Amino acid sequence: MTLKKSSANFHPDLESVMFTEGEIKTRVKSLSREIKAVYGDGEFTIVSIINGAVLFTADLMREIENPVRLDCIRISSYGEKTQSSGTPQIVHSLTLDVAKRHVLLIDDILDTGKTLALVDGLIRKLNPASLRVCVLLDKQGRREVPYEADFVGFKIPDKFVVGYGLDFAERYRNLPCIGVLKAELQNPPEWA
Ligand code: IMP
Ligand code: MG
Repeated sequence: MTLKKSSANFHPDLESVMFTEGEIKTRVKSLSREIKAVYGDGEFTIVSIINGAVLFTADLMREIENPVRLDCIRISSYGEKTQSSGTPQIVHSLTLDVAKRHVLLIDDILDTGKTLALVDGLIRKLNPASLRVCVLLDKQGRREVPYEADFVGFKIPDKFVVGYGLDFAERYRNLPCIGVLKAELQNPPEWA
């Protein structure tokens, strides 16, 4: 860890900073080049899984010059826990027609794989011309269902992270960096 990555002066609830704002920006730019290399100049439809992928999607889209359409899908979240509880549910589905369209599905993090497997299945039923998946973070070691993304920003270890769209109980999404939440804040006692 470099001094720059120390969270001591950043947010008191973070144990450490995993990726600084600058590191994220650099990786988002290079990811956009990887995406461009696959799609060329063609149009595609971005499907962003909200809320988590909001910041990532907004920044990535601005690096992409292709004509794009945007839709969002809302999936039930963890609630106030750090471990995925049961089966994710679709809270709000797609609005755009994706039949015969090239779809790029975007999420903040690929963890157990359940969320992306669910949304992938839903989109495939709508007969898109193609479906590819882009995630900012990939916790490969935590997979419960086999699922791999086509584009991955960073592979990370099994740590609960917040910031840059990622939340704990809906907080910390606005942090410009991605950091590890202090252990004592991850499971607040019932009375807290
Ligand atoms: P999966 O269905 O287990 O792959 O989980 C995907 C979703 O879980 C993501 O879209 C996030 O909302 C959430 N998630 C997984 N790991 C983390 C984390 O470390 N911090 C915050 N949210 C997470
Ligand atoms: Mg999420």
